[in-house]
Amino acid sequence: MRFPLCCTLLRSLLALLLMLDYCASMDSLNQSQPMSEGETLISAGGKFELGFFSPDNSYKRYLGIWFYNIPSRTIVWVANRNKPLDGSRGLLKIEHGTLVIQDNSGRVIWSSNTLNQSSSSTIAKLLDSGNLVLKYDNSESYLWQSFDHPTDTLLAGMKIGWDFKVGMEWQLTSWTSAEDPSQGQFSYRMDPHAPQAKMLEGNITLYRSFIHFGSIRTSLDKVFIPILVYNSQEAYKTYDLRDQKTLSRYLVNYTGKLQHYIWNSQALNWMQLYEFPGDSCDEYAKCGPNAVCITVNTVATCKCLPGYVSKSSQESDMLNLWYSGGCTRKSPLNCSVPEAFEQMKRVKLPDLLQFEINSSMNLKECEKVCLRNCSCNAYASSSDSRSRRGCGFWFGDLLDIREVNNDDGNDILFIRVVASGQGSMRKRWVIAATVVLSVSSAILCSWATWRRRKGQGVRFDAHDRGEENFELPTFDAAMISQATNGFSGSNKIGEGGFGPVYKGELPNGQEIAVKRLSETSRQGLNEFKNEVMLIAKLQHRNLVKLLGCCIEGEERMLVYEYMPNGSLDTFICNTTGGSCLVWRRRFNIIVGVARGLLYLHRDSRLTIIHRDLKASNVLLDRKMNPKISDFGMARTFGEEQFLEKTKRIVGTYGYMSPEYAVDGIFSIKSDVFSFGVLVLEIVCGRRNREFHHPDHHFNLIGHAWKLWVEGKAQELIDEQMEDSFPLSEVMRCIQVGLLCVQKCPEDRPTMSYVLLMLDSESATLLPPREPGFYLERIPYGKSIIINRAEYSANEISETLLEGR
Ligand SMILES: *[C@@H]1O[C@H](CO)[C@@H](O)[C@H](O)[C@H]1NC(C)=O
Ligand SMILES: *[C@@H]1O[C@H](CO)[C@@H](O)[C@H](O)[C@H]1NC(C)=O
Ligand SMILES: *[C@@H]1O[C@H](CO)[C@@H](O)[C@H](O)[C@H]1NC(C)=O
Ligand SMILES: *[C@@H]1O[C@H](CO)[C@@H](O)[C@H](O)[C@H]1NC(C)=O
Ligand SMILES: *[C@@H]1O[C@H](CO)[C@@H](O)[C@H](O)[C@H]1NC(C)=O
Ligand SMILES: *[C@@H]1O[C@H](CO)[C@@H](O)[C@H](O)[C@H]1NC(C)=O
Ligand SMILES: *[C@@H]1O[C@H](CO)[C@@H](O)[C@H](O)[C@H]1NC(C)=O
Ligand SMILES: *[C@@H]1O[C@H](CO)[C@@H](O)[C@H](O)[C@H]1NC(C)=O
Ligand SMILES: *[C@@H]1O[C@H](CO)[C@@H](O)[C@H](O)[C@H]1NC(C)=O
Repeated sequence: MRFPLCCTLLRSLLALLLMLDYCASMDSLNQSQPMSEGETLISAGGKFELGFFSPDNSYKRYLGIWFYNIPSRTIVWVANRNKPLDGSRGLLKIEHGTLVIQDNSGRVIWSSNTLNQSSSSTIAKLLDSGNLVLKYDNSESYLWQSFDHPTDTLLAGMKIGWDFKVGMEWQLTSWTSAEDPSQGQFSYRMDPHAPQAKMLEGNITLYRSFIHFGSIRTSLDKVFIPILVYNSQEAYKTYDLRDQKTLSRYLVNYTGKLQHYIWNSQALNWMQLYEFPGDSCDEYAKCGPNAVCITVNTVATCKCLPGYVSKSSQESDMLNLWYSGGCTRKSPLNCSVPEAFEQMKRVKLPDLLQFEINSSMNLKECEKVCLRNCSCNAYASSSDSRSRRGCGFWFGDLLDIREVNNDDGNDILFIRVVASGQGSMRKRWVIAATVVLSVSSAILCSWATWRRRKGQGVRFDAHDRGEENFELPTFDAAMISQATNGFSGSNKIGEGGFGPVYKGELPNGQEIAVKRLSETSRQGLNEFKNEVMLIAKLQHRNLVKLLGCCIEGEERMLVYEYMPNGSLDTFICNTTGGSCLVWRRRFNIIVGVARGLLYLHRDSRLTIIHRDLKASNVLLDRKMNPKISDFGMARTFGEEQFLEKTKRIVGTYGYMSPEYAVDGIFSIKSDVFSFGVLVLEIVCGRRNREFHHPDHHFNLIGHAWKLWVEGKAQELIDEQMEDSFPLSEVMRCIQVGLLCVQKCPEDRPTMSYVLLMLDSESATLLPPREPGFYLERIPYGKSIIINRAEYSANEISETLLEGR
C-alpha cells in the first residue's frame, strides 16, 4: 500500500526503461493503514496514481489522481480542491467508514461525507479506470466513488448529467487557474430536461453541444464510443474506449474551453483532438433567434432561416447577412394557409428550449404531428439512431443553429414555412459541372477538399413563392429594327457575350440597348421565355435592367435599359481618353459591383453564377453607378448546352479562376476570382491581361502579389489618380482583391464577406495566400489550348500554362 520516497525515485528512474515496478505498490487502503505524504496508491493495472501533490508554482497541497507512467503529470481529479493543506503535511485515512484528509494537527479538512459506517472492513481502492472507490472489502457496490464528484476532467466511464432518483448531478467545473484547482467559473453540464449539454460561465451559456435523439449514438469514431442515456430515471453522457489501453480525457480548461485529448505514446505528449467553442459560430446563439451562423474565413456571418427576415428593417437586405439581432417570420403562421417544410442540411440543431421529443415516431409521422400543431416551428429527425426513428419538435424561437462541416452535425432540420404558390420552383445552387480537360491539375488545390466543402455547405432547398403574375414584355421585331436604324453599324455599341449590342430609341424617346443573340438557344421557345422572365425578375440597382425580349422566327433579342456612360472598360487605364476616375468613384464602383454580385449569388430568388464578370460587363449609368450586365446568360442558354458546346470554356481570359479555366468547374467562388481581378484593375488602372512590366513576366495579379509580398503594395495604386485619397481604404481594396484571387476556391471569401470587408474599417482582413494564375505570361513550358467562346470575339484563343 505504501512505499518509501526513495523507492518512488528509483521507480521513476527505472520504470520507463524496464517497464517494471520495483516496489510492490498497493492499490488500496484499509482502516488501519493510512496513507501519508510521499506515499501513493497505484491502480492494479498501473494506469492511475493517487497521492498528495502541489500544482506548479504553488506550495499548497492537494489529494489528487493522475495518470501513472506518463512523463507529464496530468491531474484528473482533486479531492480537496477548495480546501488545500496550507503547507501542512496531509494524511488520508478511513475513519468510521469515511474517507478523510487530516492536516498534521489531526484536523479533518476534507471528508467523503459518507454515512458513518463503523464496519472495519471498509477499504478505499483506486481502480484502473481512475475511480477511487470506498466499499466493503467483500462487496462490489460502492459506498462512495470519486467518479460521482468530478472536478474538471471526464475520463472514460465517468458521467455528466443527472440521476433523477437520488437527485444528483455530475458536472465538470474548471480549475480557477493553471496553479489553482479551486472551483472556477466554467462548468459543463447536461440540461436536465433535454439531451444536450452546455458550457456555462457562471450562469451564462457559452456553448451548447450537439443533440442526439437516439439513446446510443452510433459513431464511426475509431477511438471513442460516445454514449447518451436519456430517460425518466437518468440523463447523462459518457463515453467508452474501443481500445482500453488508450489514454484520453475531456477537460473543462480554466480558459473556458471544452477540450478533448488523447495521449500520443510515440511523441509522449497529449494530443488535442478538438476544443469547443472552436470558431465563433460555436458561440452560443451567435446569430440570435431564427438565424443560422456560417463561417467565412473564420468570421461568423448570419443568415435568416428560410421564411424569416431580419428583425431590423433598417438594415439593407445585404447587411442582414451578418446581422446578429436575429430574424422573425416574414408572415406569421396561422394554420389557415397551406404550409410545408424546408430542409436545412448539415446543421447543428437548435437549442431545445420549448420542445418535445418522441423517440418512436418515424419521419413522416413527425411531419404530420408538427403540421397539426400551429405553434410547431420545426422538427428534426434523429440522424444517428439506426432505426431512423425518433424526432424532436420546436415550438418557440429557433436558437443557436450553425452550419457544420463534419459528421457531428449530419442532421436535417425541417423548418415550417408558408407553402409555395403555384408554379413553385426549386432553388438550387447552380453548381455545374465537369468539363474536365486533360490537364495536370497540379496547380489546383486539392479538389477533394473543395468538393467536400461544396457538398457540405448549408443548403436551403427552398421553394420560391410570391408574385407569380409577372409578365415579360415582348417587343415587336419591326419596332426594334426601326429603333436601331435597321441594326446599322453606327448604332452598334459593342460586341457583348452572345452577340452584338445596338443602341436604339423607342418611339416614346426611351433609349434602349438591344442584344441580338447570335447563338441561338436550343431551348424550346417556352423554356427560353421562362428563363428570360426569371432573369427579368432579377432586379437590383447594380444590375442592368432587362426590359424585355423580342422573338421572331429564329431571331431572339434581349432589350436592356441603355447605359449612357458605356462600360468600365473604357475608363480603366485609358491614357488616350485621359479621363481618370477619382478614388471616390472607383470605390463606389467596387462596392456597387460587389453588391450586384452578392445579389446574384445569394439574395436573388435563383443562385446565379455570372461566369463572365469583367470590366466590359460592368456598365455605368448617368451618375457613374456600376451595373452588371450579361448575367444569367448561362441559364438562358442552359447548362448542358454550355458544356456541350464542345468543351470550350466560356469566360474571358484574364478573369477566369484556375479551377474554371483548367477544369471547367465553376462556383460562386469563380465569380469572386473575377471580381478580385476587377478590383485590382480598378485600383491599378491597368488591365490584367495587357499588363507588362519591364522587370518580370507576371500579369497584374502576379505583379500585385509580388508587391504585396515585398510590402510595397501601395506602388500598385494608379499614378494618375488624384493626390489625396484615403490610403487605408485603397490598401484595404488591394487586400480584398488579393483575397479574392487566391488560388484555392475555399480560401476566397464570399461576396457577403467581401462587402463586410469593404464596408467596415473594423473587419479584420486575413493575409492573402498565393493567387491563382499569376505566372501565366511566362513564355515557356508545355501549354494547352483552350478555345474560348466565340463571343469574346476581340480576344483570340489564348494559351494557358500547364502547371509545371
Ligand atoms: C490492512 O492492510 C494491511 C496491509 O495490506 C494488512 O496487513 C492489514 O491486515 C489490513 N487490516 C485489516 C483490518 O484488514
Ligand atoms: C461516527 O461514529 C462513531 C461511533 O459510532 C462516533 O464516535 C463518531 O463521532 C461519529 N462520527 C461522525 C462524524 O459522526
Ligand atoms: C446570473 O447570475 C447573476 C449574478 O450572479 C444574477 O444576478 C442573475 O440573476 C443570474 N441570472 C440567472 C438567469 O440566473
Ligand atoms: C488548457 O488549455 C491550454 C491552452 O489550450 C493548454 O496549454 C493547457 O495544457 C490546458 N490545460 C490542461 C490541464 O490540459
Ligand atoms: C392567416 O393568414 C392569412 C394569410 O396571411 C390571412 O389572410 C388570414 O387573415 C390569417 N388568419 C388569421 C386567423 O389570422
Ligand atoms: C410518441 O408517438 C407515438 C406514436 O404517435 C405515440 O403513441 C406516443 O404516445 C408518443 N409518445 C410520447 C411520449 O408523446
Ligand atoms: C401544441 O404544442 C404545444 C406544446 O406541446 C402545446 O402546449 C399546445 O397545446 C399544442 N397545441 C395544439 C393545438 O395541439
Ligand atoms: C479611351 O477613352 C476614349 C474617350 O473616353 C474612348 O473613345 C476610347 O475608346 C477609350 N480607349 C480605350 C482603349 O478604351
Ligand atoms: C456620364 O454620362 C453623363 C450623361 O451622358 C455625362 O454627363 C457624364 O459626363 C458622363 N461621365 C463621364 C465620366 O464620362
